[in-house]
Amino acid sequence: MKKIILALTAFSLISGLTAIAQASPQSDLKEFRSYFKKKFPSIKFDEYRNGMYALPVAADRRAEWEAIMEFPPYELSLDLGKKFWDKNKLATCFKNGGRGIAHKYPRWDKKKNEVRTLIADINACLVKKGKKPIKNLKKGKMAQVEAYVRSMARGKRIKPDIDFSNKKALAVYEKGKQFYWARRGQLNFSCASCHVGNAGKRVGGNILSAGLGHTAGFPVYRSKWGGLGTLHRRYGGCNKQVRAKPLKAQSEAYTALEVYETYMSTGIPLAAPSQRF
Ligand code: HEC
Repeated sequence: MKKIILALTAFSLISGLTAIAQASPQSDLKEFRSYFKKKFPSIKFDEYRNGMYALPVAADRRAEWEAIMEFPPYELSLDLGKKFWDKNKLATCFKNGGRGIAHKYPRWDKKKNEVRTLIADINACLVKKGKKPIKNLKKGKMAQVEAYVRSMARGKRIKPDIDFSNKKALAVYEKGKQFYWARRGQLNFSCASCHVGNAGKRVGGNILSAGLGHTAGFPVYRSKWGGLGTLHRRYGGCNKQVRAKPLKAQSEAYTALEVYETYMSTGIPLAAPSQRF
């Protein structure tokens, strides 16, 4: 952590990043994609599903990662997720029994007129069946079940099922976008400072991944975590890195952020679960 903060202090001189001030999610998406195409012309679009391992600067780590992925450390967690799914008959709550649907999340629920994450829907299904919802939304059981459902849509291109002509849906998107570009914490960094402007740079032993494709591999297994962790767990960690207060997993703000990040990754194939350092 200290290392990161030191390295960042050097970074803060590099600036000039501005939010992509466009009127619509569609034009934001176009801008976002073309920004990375220009920044990393050698990276193929689909490669962004692999997080920082997609980057040429991570080439030395790539081989090691590929070796790990041959016998992935999350296999057992995935099995546990499947067992929980089967035991609680969660398939009955989802279209197509939950097969090949995860790339459409987060989705807009027209009846409730609200955004639904996959995690929110898994818990709602448990409640519907008279069971207790899972409490920890960052790791453990929930990360395992989510990993299982997302693994059933591996390779499908991300396409959140949200119609932004709905004003409320658009407002959620705008909130997420605002969160992504707003500077925060003692270090005064936004998500974009690290994952757009400084993507591909090394910071304190880390390489900063591109924001494009960010949600594709989640949940991910990290040895630092000793298991799988959800996207919102990662958001909390990234907030802490700049000494900003992490928010609750599945909070309104992180859900909006997930909507924005996922929409910016439209078209990237799902590659969940995955492994990260
Ligand atoms: C100080 C720099 C910094 C800031 C600011 C930051 N992150 Fe990160 N983030 C990192 C580092 C370092 C990693 C681990 C290496 C990597 O994958 O980029 C990471 C990883 C991630 C990952 C995992 C990507 C993957 O494929 O494994 C996501 C998602 C993410 N950050 C989202 C965010 C969001 C959203 C914000 C704003 C709330 C944010 N980050 C702010 C440094 C930062």
